[in-house]
Amino acid sequence: MAVAAQAIAELTALPDDAIAERIRAAKRALGDRLVVLAHHYQRNEVYRHADFTGDSLKLSRQAAGTEAEYIMFCGVHFMAEVADILTRPDQIVMIPDLAAGCSMADMANLANVARAWRELGEVIDVEADVTPATYINSAADLKAFCGSHGGIVCTSTNARKVFDWSFAQRPKVLFFPDQHLGRNTGYRMGIPLEQMVVWDYTQPRGGLTPEQIRDARVILWKGHCSVHQMFHPEQIDEFLAKYPDAQVISHPEASFEVCEKSHYVGSTEYIINTIANSAPGTRWLVGTELNLVNRLHEQFKGEGKAVHFMATTISMCSTMFRINPPQLLRALENLVDGNIVNQVRVAAHEAQPARLALERMFAVS
Ligand code: 13P
Ligand code: SF4
Repeated sequence: MAVAAQAIAELTALPDDAIAERIRAAKRALGDRLVVLAHHYQRNEVYRHADFTGDSLKLSRQAAGTEAEYIMFCGVHFMAEVADILTRPDQIVMIPDLAAGCSMADMANLANVARAWRELGEVIDVEADVTPATYINSAADLKAFCGSHGGIVCTSTNARKVFDWSFAQRPKVLFFPDQHLGRNTGYRMGIPLEQMVVWDYTQPRGGLTPEQIRDARVILWKGHCSVHQMFHPEQIDEFLAKYPDAQVISHPEASFEVCEKSHYVGSTEYIINTIANSAPGTRWLVGTELNLVNRLHEQFKGEGKAVHFMATTISMCSTMFRINPPQLLRALENLVDGNIVNQVRVAAHEAQPARLALERMFAVS
């Protein structure tokens, strides 16, 4: 039986070391033709096989710059789509499990966003007054929508710069799908909370009055990351009562209340770098995904740094967690055998305007 034909169930039954050794062998066989990218939320058993790791911005830059024929993206679907949009047509992007989506990205779709645009257009002149901006955690057709309507993409790293750019184009921003990143970014630029309204896509006209729409500077989509909603301000209060000298650092997908109580707020890469550059003996409470926090805990305990997880319950990105070593192995061994599995492809008519919106982001960040 060809190796490529081995089913996931069979591979899953193998000892961990055997799987890891076969992944390494497949990578050696593919050499420079392959690059493996992994997001910081990937489990260690996958993360350790990556050629490059990063947050969404860093990985998209890495994908855009690679010459490799094959890009295996250990992350979630929208990240692989971005890689496909930014690479040449002859480069092939794959993901070990096609079902590894992002539940927040799924909270906005083209039909709902197009309807919002139309309904906003009944109250204000959208083309003249609103810059559509999408978080990179969104499907390619929403990036294309932004590209076609003078809009832009952002990541958690460059949201501030993207908002500055957006307001330089038009007086209002429609931001989707993460209301929290939008609110946290807008507030830190000095926009009062009352000038940021939430568009509830399940309601006619987003549940807003014409006056609310006319007065708003930022229209926030009613979307969120369920992983980052597990963090609460009380957890910070309790921790700081116990360890008054501790530092608190959170991802901007966490709520406004959590971010306001945090000493630092930033992307996964920013969180890693901030803790890495802190003094030995420092104690940290971290509001982001569990796999990353556990890795930071292990990585820095030797330097005397204590890294604690903010939530009291397990809060993992279950979609990222779908990527496991047997699936990575299966995809790689298929590739060695000349079979491309789980390719992520964005249709040209969407890729072209989506790329425009991504290029606007790269230009400002
Ligand atoms: P980063 O770009 O900060 O890695 O965030 C991606 C993400 O999905 C966080 O939930
Ligand atoms: Fe999406 Fe949240 Fe997972 Fe990030 S942590 S990929 S926003 S579901």
